[in-house]
Amino acid sequence: MPRYELNVNGKPTTVDVQPNTLLLDVLRDHLDLTGTKYGCGEGQCGSCTVLLDGKARKSCLVAVSQVGQQPVETVEGLQRDGKLHPLQEAFLKHGAFQCGYCTPGMLMAAKALLSETPKPTRDQARRAMNGNLCRCGAYGRILDAILEAAEGGSRA
Ligand code: FES
Ligand code: FES
Repeated sequence: MPRYELNVNGKPTTVDVQPNTLLLDVLRDHLDLTGTKYGCGEGQCGSCTVLLDGKARKSCLVAVSQVGQQPVETVEGLQRDGKLHPLQEAFLKHGAFQCGYCTPGMLMAAKALLSETPKPTRDQARRAMNGNLCRCGAYGRILDAILEAAEGGSRA
């Protein structure tokens, strides 16, 4: 079985898996990073969104062999020294979830948005979050939270 050296949440790690193993499965089944969620498995829902080299990517569509040394960031990497990321704080403050299943993907997509567009308009944020579905319909509160984190100068 080939060995892959990955950089996940700032830490080097290795996994022995087949080349076509999905990044989503590597994270959840091999690295115990179960914050990243399986939803549709077809690139449609965004619940599996992680950052790959700072860009939002659906990890159900990325094979481990495509990752290379691009840093992978998951929801587990958002907090620093036990302190929540400003986006997480804002999601909590606005109650931007109901069941929470979409939340990790939403947070990562929002982080990518704010690192590219630190002060998005509501419309820009809505468009950027288009690929992330929330079955609970918390979209309004999710946008409120993202815009508040942007106002507070979210760290990228
Ligand atoms: S599980 Fe990846 S987009 Fe739905
Ligand atoms: S909070 Fe339930 S899917 Fe979004």
